[in-house]
Amino acid sequence: MSKDSTLIFTKTHTQTMQSRRKWIQSFFYLTLITISLYFLQLLILSDRLMVSHHKITLKKHPHLPLRFNSDGTFKILQVADMHYGTGSSRCRDVLSSEFEWCSDLNTTLFLKRMIDAEKPDFIAFTGDNIFGSSTNDAAESLFKAFGPAMASRLPWAAVLGNHDQESTMTRQELMSFISLMDYSLSQPNPLTQDPTDPTKQQVITDIDGFGNYDLRVWGPPGSHLANQTIFNLFFLDSGDRAIVDGFKTYGWIKESQFSWLRGASKGYNQEKHESVDIPSLAFFHIPIPEIRSGPFREIHGEYREHVACSIVNSGVLETLVSMGDVKAVFLGHDHLNDFCGNLNGIWFCYGGGFGYHGYGRAGWARRGRVILAQLKKGKNEWMGVETIKTWKRLDDENLTKIDHQILWTSSN
Ligand SMILES: *[C@@H]1O[C@H](CO)[C@@H](O)[C@H](O)[C@H]1NC(C)=O
Ligand SMILES: *[C@@H]1O[C@H](CO)[C@@H](O)[C@H](O)[C@H]1NC(C)=O
Ligand SMILES: *[C@@H]1O[C@H](CO)[C@@H](O)[C@H](O)[C@H]1NC(C)=O
Repeated sequence: MSKDSTLIFTKTHTQTMQSRRKWIQSFFYLTLITISLYFLQLLILSDRLMVSHHKITLKKHPHLPLRFNSDGTFKILQVADMHYGTGSSRCRDVLSSEFEWCSDLNTTLFLKRMIDAEKPDFIAFTGDNIFGSSTNDAAESLFKAFGPAMASRLPWAAVLGNHDQESTMTRQELMSFISLMDYSLSQPNPLTQDPTDPTKQQVITDIDGFGNYDLRVWGPPGSHLANQTIFNLFFLDSGDRAIVDGFKTYGWIKESQFSWLRGASKGYNQEKHESVDIPSLAFFHIPIPEIRSGPFREIHGEYREHVACSIVNSGVLETLVSMGDVKAVFLGHDHLNDFCGNLNGIWFCYGGGFGYHGYGRAGWARRGRVILAQLKKGKNEWMGVETIKTWKRLDDENLTKIDHQILWTSSN
């Protein structure tokens, strides 16, 4: 080999070595970048993307309208006072042997078991769904509290109690939020009645409170009542707290709400099919003063606690009596009362405390109420609502059924 050729060889050899090193470096960096991107994607972005994906997902709607089943039944589960905290909030008023392993998750489990056992057509939450002062994130708390209802895909609706707004959302924000949750039929404000043209309905905003609305229940599929309202559910905001003449007291239902209620009730009566009565139920949180003072004709269940109501009597009982269609009212607020009492022909029924983070009584099981409306069967067809029954179930190993009673029977 000549000197020159050796030189050339060395030169090309060095060039090859350099380019290979560059290539290895590039390869190394490329791999590093790919791996980093992969982990970045895995750890951060995928979560973010999922979250934003959830956010843009439209609300899941239940199958509407609400209607009676083909066997002529419509069953409601009433859940009063879940008092949900963060999900891990400790239980109140349970036996000391139960305390260690008891949290909001027991409320969740009870709700799941009730849904499985009763297979209701609809779930009504009557306020103090979350216990505001035990959570720093109302949205998170609502998601957890209503989680089993959303997972069940059953239509559900809620009103507010006096504790729901004690966290990070106002009552208006809570009702808007709840109305946007999956399978929720809750509404912040009611719609105007226009039986002749439902598309002309407008939202009423000059009304006190948030969570005043009504839900119509239609006849069984395929029946001659299939396209009409035969049962109706009113939801009302009974407020939170107020100061009246220097006294601290609870909220109450206001005249603006009665005026909507009367209008809605009249609307149904105009719409009504001649042979079919349209009975209604009402759901709100705070009991009315007559429950404390009134002469009950009958009481079914337990009356264990002083009735905590407003000192203002705004005339709920008078209004309902004059309307005539509301046969029973379902309340919460007093966790140790679980009775139904009849005042002037209308039943007022407590749900009984459902949630473990709310006060209760150790050794006295948490409980929930079931309401069953049944249609009358004529010769060949359904004839409208015939009976409204109720019972409760205790959160024990057998979900024991108690206090079965008939609330209303149609007179025809
Ligand atoms: C709460 O749930 C836990 C776990 O399922 C259970 O062991 C415990 O007995 C429950 N406590 C009450 C009071 O129901
Ligand atoms: C109810 O409405 C549906 C759809 O518009 C129609 O097919 C059905 O015949 C109606 N049934 C009655 C009883 O009017
Ligand atoms: C539940 O039912 C079983 C079987 O009938 C019975 O042995 C048990 O005592 C019941 N438990 C409660 C709490 O009622």
